[in-house]
Amino acid sequence: MHIDEALSTTRAVRRRLDPSREVPVELVRDCVDLALQAPAGSAVTRTRFVVVRDPTLRKGLADLYSDVYRHSYRDSPGYIGRVPTSDPAAARRQQRTARSADALDRALHEVGTLVVGCLDGVRLDGVPAMTSSSLLGGVLPAIWSFMLAARARGLGTCWTTMHLAREREAAELLDIPYDRVQQVCLTPLAWTVGTDFRRAGRPSVDEVVHWDGWDATRAGPEPLKGVLRPS
Ligand SMILES: Cc1cc2nc3c(=O)[nH]c(=O)nc-3n(C[C@H](O)[C@H](O)[C@H](O)COP(=O)(O)O)c2cc1C
Repeated sequence: MHIDEALSTTRAVRRRLDPSREVPVELVRDCVDLALQAPAGSAVTRTRFVVVRDPTLRKGLADLYSDVYRHSYRDSPGYIGRVPTSDPAAARRQQRTARSADALDRALHEVGTLVVGCLDGVRLDGVPAMTSSSLLGGVLPAIWSFMLAARARGLGTCWTTMHLAREREAAELLDIPYDRVQQVCLTPLAWTVGTDFRRAGRPSVDEVVHWDGWDATRAGPEPLKGVLRPS
């Protein structure tokens, strides 16, 4: 797959995950191997992938996700189906995504491989922005590379953070040392139903590039009002 195709068609796959076909361990390893080529601050790889295939552990993780999704997120102002936008096309997109996110909540229990991306060595609770940007910046590119590599092999992923509201319980479930390892996302990993994914609707280049400094006349996204906080 050409890199431009991977970059423009690696979608958040929710309704087209095929739970009936097992993902070979070797493929997971290949994706991790490529992901490790991503940059990391001070050239120290702090990214860790907790690959969960055991049915009891998967169910435990999916239950945590669903509990947050159903009992905190869906009724919050941040729920994607409720985020205000004046652009009708963006509103339609959000409604579609909301239905898709609802579907993932129902389907996550069935997916045979779940992957938790982690930052090893430090927790970022309450640390200054510079430190959190530096340390998360050493992990998130690798996880996105993992997803691109998966896409190139016919596998689908969906970046999620919902379960992090119950991160401590997820850590206990998976024996992750909570005090020094921070979970940053969870993704299902499964073969996709078909491989024909398209470019997504996004803001135009002119909306997001500020040449030679910040242009205050540009419209930005709606400021965030409700932020989901861990319980
Ligand atoms: C930081 C982050 C957190 C996300 N959390 C969730 C989540 O908890 N559940 C979910 O269904 N999707 C989640 N998503 C996926 C986004 O909703 C998805 O990227 C967006 O809908 C765009 O999808 P597309 O790339 O297929 O157009 C998350 C994405 C990011 C980058």
